[in-house]
Amino acid sequence: MYKLIRPLLFHLEPETAHRLTLQTLRFAGKFPPSYRFLEWLYRTPPRPVHAFGLSFKNPIGLAAGYDKDAVAVRGLAALGFGHLELGTVTPRPQPGNPRPRLFRLIEDEAVINRLGFPSRGAAHVVKSLKGKRRRRGVLRSVAGFASHKDETEKPVRPNQVVLGVNLGKNKDIPNEEAVLDYLEVLQCFAPYADYLTINISSPNTVGLRQLQGRDALEGLLSQLDIQRGMEEKSLEKRIPLLVKLGPDLSEQELDNAVEVILRTRMDGIIATNTTLAREGLESRYRGETGGLSGSPLRVHSEAVLCQVVKRVDGKIPIVSVGGILHPDDAKKRFDLGATLIQIYTGLVYHGPGLIKKILTG
Ligand code: FNR
Repeated sequence: MYKLIRPLLFHLEPETAHRLTLQTLRFAGKFPPSYRFLEWLYRTPPRPVHAFGLSFKNPIGLAAGYDKDAVAVRGLAALGFGHLELGTVTPRPQPGNPRPRLFRLIEDEAVINRLGFPSRGAAHVVKSLKGKRRRRGVLRSVAGFASHKDETEKPVRPNQVVLGVNLGKNKDIPNEEAVLDYLEVLQCFAPYADYLTINISSPNTVGLRQLQGRDALEGLLSQLDIQRGMEEKSLEKRIPLLVKLGPDLSEQELDNAVEVILRTRMDGIIATNTTLAREGLESRYRGETGGLSGSPLRVHSEAVLCQVVKRVDGKIPIVSVGGILHPDDAKKRFDLGATLIQIYTGLVYHGPGLIKKILTG
């Protein structure tokens, strides 16, 4: 079906197409008949995975950036994902960069984005998640939460989707004060998310990636770990913290980052965010600034995954993302040692049927 819809979407300006698909999923998720239809259309075979003390019905997740403000959680859950990573959410609302800021590189099966964390802000997103939970227990029963209170490997209900929230800082906050922003969003989302991701790797917020440096990272993560401990105590649930890394770190920088992540007791690593590299592109948009995702990111992401797997040595699970557009790409990531994978640009080029294709393949 996506083969028929794709040419129509590709006629639209990329951000308009994004908004259209998101709103369609929002509406489809609101009404039981359309929700059930989507669920039936995209039903996936169970492939349970257990990681970070959470039970996932399958290892495929939606990468951060598609549903930044948690507007289409139910509709997205119906597509068969095992987990959804919402966000990036910033503490206060911000508009992001001026348009145009999103480009399809069709010849390269890629996207360049320089959105710059447009976000309606943490309070708005919390309200939306809270509302859903209050209305029908959506997050726990329909798009349901995984269990937190213990780490036993519980059986996974078929309609269960794990919800992660990807956390960022506001653009106008300097790196020296970034920890305050991350602490704020951690506190906001701890009650409502199954896991939280510390995003320090987006290339579209000036200076953000410097937080991946050893000292800055250690300062940030050790404080977030303390805060996480306090939240866990008061909420009486586990709050897995994951760190999302970029693909453009040198080998040494990556080793240092992994060492700090392990030392500060983080629960997992997501690798990778988009890249600033631009080798071998054909599209006329190749000169646009921003983060590149999709096929050209594949080799970078695989290389980072290999190195991270080696350094982590089985101590924490790794989520691989970047350039997964075909079932073979997914298989390779699992063979290389990923526990979970995430997709974004693959959805743009191959539609949500990609989830089922990967799981049946
Ligand atoms: C992203 N990505 C992203 N990542 C993140 O941590 N926070 C974000 O807000 C966003 N926003 C965003 C917007 C758009 C339009 C794209 C294409 C990507 C990065 C994304 O989560 C993922 O890491 C990369 O896109 C690589 O995966 P794919 O797209 O190659 O499957």
